[in-house]
Amino acid sequence: MKQRVLINGASGGVGTFAVQIAKSFGAEVTGVCSTKKMEMVRSIGADHVINYTREDFTQNGQQYDLILAANGDRSISDYQRALSPKEKSSLRWNLTTNPDKGPRMEIKNVRRVH
Ligand SMILES: NC(=O)c1ccc[n+]([C@@H]2O[C@H](COP(=O)([O-])OP(=O)(O)OC[C@H]3O[C@@H](n4cnc5c(N)ncnc54)[C@H](OP(=O)(O)O)[C@@H]3O)[C@@H](O)[C@H]2O)c1
Repeated sequence: MKQRVLINGASGGVGTFAVQIAKSFGAEVTGVCSTKKMEMVRSIGADHVINYTREDFTQNGQQYDLILAANGDRSISDYQRALSPKEKSSLRWNLTTNPDKGPRMEIKNVRRVH
C-alpha cells in the first residue's frame, strides 16, 4: 500500500521539491496551496490538491503517514489530528532559526515505497 504524504505549502520553494521527491518515492501525494497555484501543484505530480482558502486539511477526516509542513501556520495538535494513528506517537519537529513562530518544518520517516 502506498504511503500517504501531505505537503503543506506545496506551491512554495520547499514544497515544490517535496512534492516531486515524495512522488519519486512512490507515495500518494496531497499538496496544500492557494487557489491560483492548484494547477501548478497538480502539474508537478500531486495526486490530490487541497485549497487552503476553502478546506481545512486537519478537519476533513483524512489522515496521512507523513506530513511535511513547509510553513508554520498550524499547531502541533492540528497536525496530530491529520496523522495516521501509527505515526502519531513518532511525531517530532525541527524548528527553524525563529522558534518564537513555532514549528516550521517536519520531515520524518522518508523511505522508499515499493
Ligand atoms: N527556501 C529555502 O531555502 C528555505 C530554507 C530553510 C527554511 N525555509 C523555511 O521553509 C518554509 C517554506 O519556505 P519556502 O521557500 O517554500 O516558502 P514560499 O516559497 O514562500 O512558500 C510558502 C508556501 O506556504 C503556502 N502557504 C501560505 N499560507 C498558507 C496557509 N495559510 N496554509 C497553507 N499553506 C500556506 C504558500 O502557498 P500559496 O503560495 O499557494 O499561497 C506556499 O506554498 C519557510 O518557513 C522558510 O522560512 C526555507
